[in-house]
Amino acid sequence: MAQEQTPPSGPDLTQGVAFDAFVDGKLVGHVGSEEVLLVHSGSELFAVGAHCSHYHAPLADGLVVGPSVRCPWHHACFDLRSGEAARAPALSALECWKVEQRDGRIFVKEKRQQTKPQPKAVANAPAKIVIVGGGAAGFAAAEMLRRRGFGGSIVMLSHDAAAPTDRPNLSKDYLAGSAPEDWLPLRPNEFYAENNIELRLNAEVVGIDTKAHQVMVAGGKNLTYDRLLLATGAEPVRLPIPGADQPHVHVLRSLADCRAIIESAKGARRAIVIGASFIGLEAAAALRARDIEVHVVAPEQRPMERVLGPDMGDFVRALHEEHGVIFHLGDTVVAIDGKRATLRNGGVLEAELVVVGVGVRPRLGLAEQAGLKIDRGVAVNAFLETSVAGIYAVGDIARWPDPHSRENIRVEHWVVAERQGQTAARNMLGQQQVFDAVPFFWSQHYDVPVNYVGHAEQWDEIAIEGDIAARDCLLKYRSKGRVLAVASIYRDLASLQAELAMEQTPNR
Ligand SMILES: Cc1cc2nc3c(=O)[nH]c(=O)nc-3n(C[C@H](O)[C@H](O)[C@H](O)COP(=O)(O)OP(=O)(O)OC[C@H]3O[C@@H](n4cnc5c(N)ncnc54)[C@H](O)[C@@H]3O)c2cc1C
Ligand code: FES
Repeated sequence: MAQEQTPPSGPDLTQGVAFDAFVDGKLVGHVGSEEVLLVHSGSELFAVGAHCSHYHAPLADGLVVGPSVRCPWHHACFDLRSGEAARAPALSALECWKVEQRDGRIFVKEKRQQTKPQPKAVANAPAKIVIVGGGAAGFAAAEMLRRRGFGGSIVMLSHDAAAPTDRPNLSKDYLAGSAPEDWLPLRPNEFYAENNIELRLNAEVVGIDTKAHQVMVAGGKNLTYDRLLLATGAEPVRLPIPGADQPHVHVLRSLADCRAIIESAKGARRAIVIGASFIGLEAAAALRARDIEVHVVAPEQRPMERVLGPDMGDFVRALHEEHGVIFHLGDTVVAIDGKRATLRNGGVLEAELVVVGVGVRPRLGLAEQAGLKIDRGVAVNAFLETSVAGIYAVGDIARWPDPHSRENIRVEHWVVAERQGQTAARNMLGQQQVFDAVPFFWSQHYDVPVNYVGHAEQWDEIAIEGDIAARDCLLKYRSKGRVLAVASIYRDLASLQAELAMEQTPNR
């Protein structure tokens, strides 16, 4: 039987709409079969694709800020004039339509031609840029260099076997078995050749000669650079306990790690997740979706309390318990012998699969060996440049002066890594752009997303608006009266507004 097509929502915008049809300056309608978001901001009108190019969120639920719209789910930002994905995590532009005003009505006309960036001369641009790392930050930098018209050489060296991958998905839909393979690459393979980006996989950089401007590649020739970007990310902490090196005991960082877990999960009845970290608990949720009994063993009394506070911690625990996860809190695994895991408190759990999610360590070896300044991460200035001119560091390894918390911070967030890659790319081309994005991360547990803006390592008060248990809440983490961070569940607009307020707070 032929499937019925759902008609696109809203009015036919080619037939014209009145100004009073807008709600908060936004209106969703269609042009042919395509959903289009019409935006009235200031005196300007814009028509763009109605869905975010990252995970397809409805942009009508987002926030319009001048000539831009921010996505409600993971805070990407699009320029409404050009459609450009100005801020990650979205990387692809929205389509744009021409708009006309006639007799007090607004008509959406034909689609505007998308302009593909053409390599052009960038004044005083370096000739050769080498990027160490093929993850969030390294990829976003390479993509932005080409977007900004850099025509010189880009070599991206990645120790991973897979091309840049949507890492957050590895503990969510892909691990749960509900995301197809083609969701994972950040770009299809052809992208690299088409954009003249030399991506070398399985390539380990083993040294940097800052005087000779060279990187040493294991088993390969040295590479010369004019600008160097370090984006080596972090590696999972491995447990120093007997039996942690067995094939059914996994960490989760790379696509290869995730595939190995999926292989072990086949036919498994029970899994142990060691650590109640974000990744550990997301993995627990994904394994429950595969109908595997999941036990989480972790030393803390409440999951995620250190980052989200006690009330959110209790909620996260209850949420996982509702889905059948069994917690062993205040406990650790001290040995794994085949399927038998011994707990410190004396218990024994039998499981065919163990996932260790006890945190990560930034990969600092290269930066240390090169003599770059280290401060619990690679120390960078406001432009993301390290203590050696021409060498930049971004993503999980970088500690930067965050103007919002007024501290030098290092975080392990996907969106921050991508945005830092983008800023460093512009700065390597000679701009002097301060990295001042408000940190943002999200985490997903079953159907519950948690969004977090800002950065609060400590607080003296958490103000809770709404009802956490009802999954409709906003938590403000305050220190000395200042809001340092805001966590939320299903309050996307308020989360975007909190981000904007933090951006506009004059505390530099
Ligand atoms: C399973 C999982 C789920 C996650 N989910 C979320 C989420 O929901 N939300 C969120 O905000 N964050 C999430 N994160 C964190 C996020 O993925 C990281 O913060 C982000 O990937 C950091 O980007 P990066 O570029 O610094 O490092 P990575 O993405 O780790 O990339 C590092 C790259 O450097 C390469 N490399 C390292 N050393 C060398 C070397 N010597 N030579 C050559 N190459 C080298 C590696 O091979 C890799 O390609 C998740 C992480 C994981 C593992
Ligand atoms: S869906 Fe828009 S940023 Fe993720």
